Amino acid sequence: MKKIAFILLGLALCLESLAGGVKSGPWVSEARDNRVTILWTSEVPGMAYVELSDGTKLWETFAGRRVFHRLHSVRIDGLKPGEVVRYRVCGQDIEDDSNARNPKFGVVYEGEWHSVRTFDPKAAECRFSVFNDIHMRVPQYEALAAQVDSASTDFLFLNGDIVSAGNYDLDTYTRFTLDPLGTLPAGLPVLFGRGNHEGRGNNVELMADVFPNEDPAPFYYTFRQGPVAFIVFDAGETGTNRSILYSGKDVYEDYLNEQIEWAKQAMQEKSFRKAPVKVCILHVPMIDHEDKTDFLLQRWLNVHMVPMLNKAGIDLMIGADLHEFMFCETGTMNNAFPIIVNDEAHRLDFNYSNGYITVRTYHPKGTLEFDYTFKP
Ligand SMILES: [Fe+2]
Repeated sequence: MKKIAFILLGLALCLESLAGGVKSGPWVSEARDNRVTILWTSEVPGMAYVELSDGTKLWETFAGRRVFHRLHSVRIDGLKPGEVVRYRVCGQDIEDDSNARNPKFGVVYEGEWHSVRTFDPKAAECRFSVFNDIHMRVPQYEALAAQVDSASTDFLFLNGDIVSAGNYDLDTYTRFTLDPLGTLPAGLPVLFGRGNHEGRGNNVELMADVFPNEDPAPFYYTFRQGPVAFIVFDAGETGTNRSILYSGKDVYEDYLNEQIEWAKQAMQEKSFRKAPVKVCILHVPMIDHEDKTDFLLQRWLNVHMVPMLNKAGIDLMIGADLHEFMFCETGTMNNAFPIIVNDEAHRLDFNYSNGYITVRTYHPKGTLEFDYTFKP
């Protein structure tokens, strides 16, 4: 009897270590042509590292010390464009660190091996999938994600409102934003465009920790994959009642002016300026609207930002937010590029190859519902 109990205990411990201490993830973010950041959460706080296929261990540290977190974030620098990184996430739980001189450590875990590729400006194509306005509808999100063919996709883009307004905690946020994507984000970088709902509530800094981005700010940045340069903006809140929603704490006009000043410089950078194709992606589409009051911010963006984007040679804008599909042809609202707004129920797939951009949208059942190809 004693023997059976020992076997069961051993099995339980074995299963616990197989469970790996990983609660959510890993997911890859902040991908560029020379770096990626690997993130995950563990069931309890602990030390953590990313192990590479050559045995190198990259510990999560702060100022020369290993730290005991639940959200783990390890950046891998010094990579080559298009390099495949094979990695697994590992760590050791901490059971009690009340005595700083003698912390009590727990389970050691080693996750599954995954591979991810850095971006490569010399790649011939650029292919990505966009999700937006999911608003915690998990079955639909899972269905859309399950259809993504990772072998023919470079990255995923979450274009805002994946969750709904609220006071977020780490586990709620990863459960609704990352877990429905399954293992896709372990092998495909996930880039993030903040939606208005992710700007509401308390703890808005959380998304910047989950999708870190140093350069130059968490939620507005440029990057490049293959022939396509991207500029991502964070347009804040759309409605006229936003000061009520934010208890008067919002300063979005200042924030947008800050982005305009930054964008003028960023779009002059060689890797952006010389890119054969330029795409602007953000949650709030910069569309003109007959309603002059209710959609104040969209019109503000149209007036203040579209001329700058026209001048920089943007070829396409991808927006979200409206919960309706919209295709605004070039020239219909002072735009020198088409604006495509994806609705809340579809995945938008982008492909640039052989000189043509193709945009398709798919229903959760897998049906193709919009199919548009044009030469930028
Ligand atoms: Fe939304």
